[in-house]
Amino acid sequence: MRTPRYEQIAEKIVTLIHSGALKEGDKIPSIRQLSHELSVGVNTVKEAYWRLEDRNYITVVPQSGYYVKNRFNERVEPSEQDLKQLDPKKVTFCRVYSMFRDNAFDKNGISLALSGVAPDLWPKKRFGRYLMDAASDNDLLAAEYLLPPGYTLLRQQIARLGLSAGLTLSPDDIIVTNGCQEAIFLALMALCKPGDTIVLESPTYFNLLQLLQALNLKVIEIPSSPEEGISLDTLKFVIENHPVKVVFSIPNFNNPRGFVMPSWKKKEMAWLLEQSKIPLIEDDIYGDLYFHRRPDACKSHDETGNVLYCSSFSKTIAPGLRIGWIAPGKFYESVIEMKMLLNISTASVNQIAVACFLAKGGYERHLRKVKGKLIENVQSMRNEILLHFPDSTRVSNPSGGSFLWVELPEPIDTEQIYQDALAENILFSPGHLFSLQNKFTNCMRLSASTWNLKVADTIQILGRLCKR
Ligand SMILES: Cc1ncc(COP(=O)(O)O)c(C=O)c1O
Repeated sequence: MRTPRYEQIAEKIVTLIHSGALKEGDKIPSIRQLSHELSVGVNTVKEAYWRLEDRNYITVVPQSGYYVKNRFNERVEPSEQDLKQLDPKKVTFCRVYSMFRDNAFDKNGISLALSGVAPDLWPKKRFGRYLMDAASDNDLLAAEYLLPPGYTLLRQQIARLGLSAGLTLSPDDIIVTNGCQEAIFLALMALCKPGDTIVLESPTYFNLLQLLQALNLKVIEIPSSPEEGISLDTLKFVIENHPVKVVFSIPNFNNPRGFVMPSWKKKEMAWLLEQSKIPLIEDDIYGDLYFHRRPDACKSHDETGNVLYCSSFSKTIAPGLRIGWIAPGKFYESVIEMKMLLNISTASVNQIAVACFLAKGGYERHLRKVKGKLIENVQSMRNEILLHFPDSTRVSNPSGGSFLWVELPEPIDTEQIYQDALAENILFSPGHLFSLQNKFTNCMRLSASTWNLKVADTIQILGRLCKR
C-alpha cells in the first residue's frame, strides 16, 4: 500500500530532525507555506503536522508557528539490564506513605510532593451554592444512597466531557466512584486475584505501587521513553513470555514523567492487548489538564470494551470531593458489584453538586483558569530549576498536568537530598519511589500546582542542596 502523502511529509521532517538539519527550537514552515512549496493541499500538511505533534517532534506556539520540540532523549529501547529485570516482582516495600504520614513534616513547610488544584482556585461561591441547593432540595436525594452506577445527571455530564477525549460513552457505561483511586482499585479487584501479574510503564505513580502491594500482585515494569511512554516492543516481549493478567497505563500527562503517548501508539497498544485478551486499565486523571490540545484516550481506540477507563475531578475541581468514575467496558458487571460490596455508594450530596457545576455552567471557565495557572506555574518552576540546579540537569517539558520530572546528573542521590530538604521543611517526591527496582535514584518529581515567591525560594534551596 502506498504511504499517504501526509506520512511522507511527516517522515521527511523527522529525517531532517534526526540528521540535525532541523534543531530543537527551529521554526518550521507554516502550513500554508509548505502546502504552497510542495503543491499539496493545506489539509495534507495539517495532518502531517498533527502527527508530528502527536509524536512529540514539533510543538505549536499560538500566533507564532510550529517549532521543533525539545526531545531531551531519543526513543529508549530497553537495555540488556532492563530486559533482565523484566521478571515479576512481588511488591514488598513502599515507604511512600510512611513519609507523608509521618509527623516528620511541619505543616508550615513547603510541599512540592503532591499535586492538587491550588486552594485559591476552589470555586468557593458557586460550588457552595450548589452544595446548599443539593442539601436543601425537596426531593431529598442528598439524604439517600445514590446507588451505583451513581447519579444519572452526573453520568450524563461525564459522558459529555468524554467527547473531547474521543470517547463516545453512554451514561450507562459509567460508574461513579470515590475518586480515581477507587476506580483503579475496583478494576484491579474485578480482574485480578492475589499472585497475578500486572504490567506497567516505569516510572509510575507510587500510590499505585502501594495498592498493588496491598492486593498481593506481582509487577513487571516496562521502560518508558520520556516523550512517548511505554516501549511497545518490550510490552510484546513480556506478553509473549509471562502470564500477564492486566496492563496499567497513564498515557496522558503521565505521572511522573508528563509525556503524552502518541495517538498511533495508543491505538497500537489497545489493539495489541485486545488481540492478547489482556485488559488495559487506563488512568486519564490528568487528560483534561492539557495546555493546548486535549489528547485522545486509549479507550477511544477500544472497539470491544477491553479498556477500563478511570478518572476523577480531583485534579480539575478538588480532591476533597472524592468524585471519580470508571467506564469498565465489558467488565461492567464485575466492577459495579465490587463497588456495591465495597462502600454501597459515593456521597450523594457531592455527586449532585458536581453534576450541577457541570450542567449549569462554570466548569469550563473554571478549568480554563486552572490550566492558565498551571501553564504559568510549570514554566516558572522549570525556568527556576534550570537556573539553580546543577549543570546538565534535565527537566521534563510537559504539555499538560502539573508535574515536573527532574533528572540530576549521577551519582546525585535524591534520597539524600530528600533528607536534607526535610530538615529545611521542604517535601518532594524522590525518584526511587516510582519504581520497585531501585531505579531513578537521581530523579525527583516536583509539583507545580502552586507558584509564588516562597516556592521560588524553595527551588533555589533545592538547587543548592543538589549542588552540595
Ligand atoms: C495518576 C493518578 N491516578 C490516581 C490518583 C488518585 O486520584 P483520586 O484523588 O481521584 O483518587 C492520582 C492522585 O494523585 C494520580 O496522580
